[in-house]
Amino acid sequence: MIKIILVLFSVTFASVIAQNKNTQINLMPYPKEIKITGEKYRIKSTFSINYSLTKSERLKKMSNRFLIRLAERTGLFLKNPYANQSGAKLKTALFIQTEKVGKLKLGVDESYSLKISKNKITLKAKTDIGAIRGLETLLQLLKADETGYYFPTLAIKDAPRFKWRGLMIDAARHFMPVEVIKRNLDGMAMVKMNVFHWHLSDDQGFRVESKIYPKLTELASDGLFYTYEQIKEIIKYADDRGIRVIPEFDVPGHATAILTAFPELASAPGPYKIERNWGIFDPTLNPTIDKTYKFLDKLFGEMANLFPDEYFHIGGDENNGKQWDANEEIQKFMKANNIKDNHALQAYFNKRLLKILTKHNKKMVGWDEIFHKDIPKNIVIQSWRGKQALVDAANKGYQVILSNGYYIDLIQPTSFHYLNDPLPKGIKLSDDKKKFVLGGEATMWAEMVSPETIDSRIWPRTAAIAERFWSPQNINNVNNMYKRLDRINYLLETVGLTHIKNYGMMLRRLTNNNDTKPLDILIQVIEPVKIYKRNSLRKQNQQTPLTRVVDAATPDAKVAREFRNLVDSYLADKKLDMKKHNALVEQLKIWKANNKKLLPIIKKSPMLKEIELMSIRLSELSDLGLKILNYRKNHKKISSELFSDGSQIINNAKVPIAQTELMIVPAIEKLFGSILF
Ligand code: ACM
Repeated sequence: MIKIILVLFSVTFASVIAQNKNTQINLMPYPKEIKITGEKYRIKSTFSINYSLTKSERLKKMSNRFLIRLAERTGLFLKNPYANQSGAKLKTALFIQTEKVGKLKLGVDESYSLKISKNKITLKAKTDIGAIRGLETLLQLLKADETGYYFPTLAIKDAPRFKWRGLMIDAARHFMPVEVIKRNLDGMAMVKMNVFHWHLSDDQGFRVESKIYPKLTELASDGLFYTYEQIKEIIKYADDRGIRVIPEFDVPGHATAILTAFPELASAPGPYKIERNWGIFDPTLNPTIDKTYKFLDKLFGEMANLFPDEYFHIGGDENNGKQWDANEEIQKFMKANNIKDNHALQAYFNKRLLKILTKHNKKMVGWDEIFHKDIPKNIVIQSWRGKQALVDAANKGYQVILSNGYYIDLIQPTSFHYLNDPLPKGIKLSDDKKKFVLGGEATMWAEMVSPETIDSRIWPRTAAIAERFWSPQNINNVNNMYKRLDRINYLLETVGLTHIKNYGMMLRRLTNNNDTKPLDILIQVIEPVKIYKRNSLRKQNQQTPLTRVVDAATPDAKVAREFRNLVDSYLADKKLDMKKHNALVEQLKIWKANNKKLLPIIKKSPMLKEIELMSIRLSELSDLGLKILNYRKNHKKISSELFSDGSQIINNAKVPIAQTELMIVPAIEKLFGSILF
């Protein structure tokens, strides 16, 4: 009897601990409060939805999408495949109670509570937007056992930590067709993000139809731009999902495309042509002539009508000032107006722009370069160069959003982004200043992505960033995040994202439709080089194909990460753990043997030639790993031969090949270090 009680006690105790560590329920973002009650709500074909707020188009559509997604994942032939407005006599499974239609703007109430009991589910929210967030949670809760599909019974109370939870997509460097944007909006909705920041103009293209200035797309888009209808369609699609759309037109720098169409607005004589390369370029609007402001007034007025959100992004980043320095008229203007440097001149430009935007009922957002003592406080500053900009701006009473640390184009690991908090402990901001930090945005700059690869750079890492913006600050256990990330990764595919399926297609193309397995084994342990290294190793431009091994390789390669973790855990043991030892040996044997299998395929597919050496490096490194493990197991001392060979092999493997790097090197180096002394 005592034994049984002990067992019961430990089970309950374990579940409490698990709950505290947030390991129990596979949700991302993790909710604010959750109480698990341990039973199952069984889903049958009679499952139905009833909602109280009949005038919400948004809720009606989301409820119907919910039923489709539920049917798709369960194979159930639902008898009530359309959500039912109140008054029906159906025995309803899911009741949605909302008070009002939410106005889609900063700070709208997105909270909800969800109660799943054995026979009934109730979702309550102040607004239909909160209800949408709750429905996404419920879809993530779907589970199966041998009896069928079910939702675990529980009670959730949830609300976001930050009110601005964004993803920026750059559609200027590489154009992203409507379907790319739509499927990413679906991904954002799944992880409760609420701002889509659309980077629509840069040196490499102007991407929106302008009826006032048709030359913009005629001369500066290569025919790749969004029509009015498409913009409206996307805004509606986003609104249906409770997502705001904020357009960005980058000025006065990053303006080559605009100046290709309107060279008379430049700070240096033209002509200009669409920039095909990547980097920071000189062409800059002339802030000292009235023509510039007349143009921007009309263009931004037109765009302000097209984009209903109250915020409007003017870029403002990376103006190198070279054209301003070289222009005598501009220098005279600065002297005459007591403008002492380029930053002050840009502030003068921004102030005039702010008047224009205010006239068009818009609030200004800009990158952190727009921060200047002369600019009024009613703007939002997007901090990208460092955290200090965020602290300085918030301390002075500006609203800020954080993007520094969320640059997903830089191929950093998920854990890095996940632990990057907009308000880290110890930040030098008083509580009343902290409220100026509205949230953050992940930024998908598109120099190195195409419509085919972009999803694999955004997802799944952005789901972890979304959790950072939504969930309580203390939900920050990295191992647990990675566990839940695996699940959301798969779920994201169910709404149409291509980050998993395109990988297989890319491998078939790379191998010339030969066996893809050996290439897969190699790519699973490599990653594209980080930060801005890729373009420095091999110059790329807008026409460069993004179909090579470096493009198929993904950030935060899971197999390599898990190998590194296993090595760490193996080395931390005082006594040799044969299970771990054998797992490492098995893995290393596969990698060692892979080169022989891949070489014949490389011969049939010249595009793979550039990674032949990488395949050899993996094989050599794995062989070294096997030798080290053997030494450790047999308590032998290292031979002088292995010492010099080993150092050489490790150093060779550190050199990037075909703009990729081998991600198991640090683990082998640690193993090697463990037998040296
Ligand atoms: C930026 O990355 N230039 C905002």
